[in-house]
Amino acid sequence: MPTYIDPTAEVDPSATIGEGTRVWGHAYVAPNASIGRNCMLARNTHVGKGAVMGDGCKLQDGSGITTGVTLGNYVFVGPNVTFCNDPDPRASNTNFAPAITSVGDGAVICAAAVIDAGVTIGEGAKVAPGAVVCRNVPAGMFAVGNPARILPRMERAS
Ligand SMILES: CC(C)(COP(=O)(O)OP(=O)(O)OC[C@H]1O[C@@H](n2cnc3c(N)ncnc32)[C@H](O)[C@@H]1OP(=O)(O)O)[C@@H](O)C(=O)NCCC(=O)NCCS
Repeated sequence: MPTYIDPTAEVDPSATIGEGTRVWGHAYVAPNASIGRNCMLARNTHVGKGAVMGDGCKLQDGSGITTGVTLGNYVFVGPNVTFCNDPDPRASNTNFAPAITSVGDGAVICAAAVIDAGVTIGEGAKVAPGAVVCRNVPAGMFAVGNPARILPRMERAS
């Protein structure tokens, strides 16, 4: 599939977009972001400065990854998922060091989950809709609720 960038999307010239990636309407890709091949950025999504997405990832409508976030390959980010990157936010603090948050290959983050600054979500893990994840999620596990508790996961993401 050819690369596609919708005319209403804004992609900074310093960002990297891999072959076959589709960027739909009103998406925003900030400077130095790196997006792999065959990804899909749905409407109204954003990728922060220097944030990284591997190959084959999906960002669904209204979600975004902030500076400091790295997604592995084939990560699914559902609609309206929020990643936090400032562990001590202040309106006056314009120059904070973003926390490092990483999401392993094949992980699935369902709709409207909140991922707190600095957590690691392991390979093949799943986060339930609306979960608030404030601790690391081990590979292959299922995080549910607020604050998220960890349950075994029956099937793994592909
Ligand atoms: C939500 C989902 C993960 C539940 O999967 P499931 O295998 O049916 O899980 P179960 O219903 O057996 O739930 C397992 C446990 O987690 C709890 N749970 C499931 N979803 C939950 C949620 N969103 N919040 C809190 N707890 C939840 C259940 O109550 C159950 O707890 P218990 O064992 O104490 O009774 C699954 O339906 C799913 O993937 N939905 C997709 C949602 C989505 O965002 N899609 C993309 C956008 S459309």
